[in-house]
Amino acid sequence: MEQAVNIQDIPIRELIRSAQEARKRAYVPYSGYAVGAAVLTRELRIYTGCNIENASYTPTICAERCAISKAVSEGNRKFKAIAVMGGPQGEDGGQFAFPCGVCRQVMREFSDPKEFLVITAKSEEEYRVYRLEQLLPESFGPENLMKEG
Ligand code: THU
Repeated sequence: MEQAVNIQDIPIRELIRSAQEARKRAYVPYSGYAVGAAVLTRELRIYTGCNIENASYTPTICAERCAISKAVSEGNRKFKAIAVMGGPQGEDGGQFAFPCGVCRQVMREFSDPKEFLVITAKSEEEYRVYRLEQLLPESFGPENLMKEG
């Protein structure tokens, strides 16, 4: 049985700092919208990601999926929380950035939506915390494809 996630147990400031650092590495020549993300694994490791755009547009990857892909490719498939920071490149903390629908669905694949925390931050001091279930209600996930028995 998984332990319930207490917000107090999540190193929120460290996650935000990590997302902030990753955001500096965003490659955004087309949108100019830079995003950084930091995901916390069940084993309390942090993996970071930034958005990486492409001249052909559709190969662009969001910061959240970049971070999750790095973690999964290193053998981590259970996550507790993700911090996200985004906004116009070169500007700090102007807005709360929310993960896109595709990223929410990828978070859903590797977490319990009732437990997983999505932290959107303007700074280490100014942030909002949501459960994934709030941002992706009535979701479709791996259990829906599990065979009975
Ligand atoms: N983007 C993210 O990195 N995360 C999101 O959840 C929303 C969108 C990126 C993709 C693209 O590089 C830029 O923001 C504008 O859509």
